[in-house]
Amino acid sequence: MNPERIAETLGIAHVEVCEEVASTQDAAKQAVSSGKSLPCLVYARRQSRGRGRMGRTWLSRDGGLYFTLAVNRISEPWALPLVSAYLIHRKLSSCVEDLALKWPNDILHRDAKLAGVLVEGWHDCLGVGVGVNINQEWSAGETPVPATSLFMLTGRVFDLEEMLCSLARIVMRGVDELGSRGFRHFYEDIREALLASRQPVQFHYKDTTITAALHDITSTGDAFVELKSGKRIKLPIMHVLGIS
Ligand code: BTN
Repeated sequence: MNPERIAETLGIAHVEVCEEVASTQDAAKQAVSSGKSLPCLVYARRQSRGRGRMGRTWLSRDGGLYFTLAVNRISEPWALPLVSAYLIHRKLSSCVEDLALKWPNDILHRDAKLAGVLVEGWHDCLGVGVGVNINQEWSAGETPVPATSLFMLTGRVFDLEEMLCSLARIVMRGVDELGSRGFRHFYEDIREALLASRQPVQFHYKDTTITAALHDITSTGDAFVELKSGKRIKLPIMHVLGIS
């Protein structure tokens, strides 16, 4: 990987290519705090403490793609995980069939994880962390949750620098379009991709965690979820949690 070439391809000033970091989220946050201009990109070949949503671990061995793109905060930050995952899902679907977008920001092949997105807010910027299983190969039971990779699905070895540039560009464009045109611009497509299957979700109410099914989303940031009793309730998208 060549950071200068990647910076030029993407038209951004700061790209870090690391052999190993704890998490590219922390490395990118550090780059931003030290005054690097946005957007900036941190890629690592491995992560020793890669993380997912809700405190989960993201296994980050050689062969996968792990990067964080730090961008200026936009006006509908709650939509960024959905938009990024949707755009990555669309790109990966051009490499392999049968991928599903799982609420709110995972990409699965059947029940196996292929990619995930983690968006964190750091003051006036957002860190979009992307993990994609590309060239790894696991035996059954070797990963904490069922996982797959592009290599396992296609038998092909993918060029990591090409995939990095392509996915980082897609996320950058998504951030720009979300900032300028709003979630409404993506709404119909994301709604269709999410509602293609009945998605189990959770939310916290008082001291309990309630399991429900995603019924619908609105273009203004609400979700309708259906309880086991059949009753539907509306709550902000940000309060609806995915189930792994
Ligand atoms: C999830 O499935 O909950 C999201 C996983 C996001 C993993 C990526 S890998 C690059 C970036 N650095 C991290 O520590 N996490 C994200």
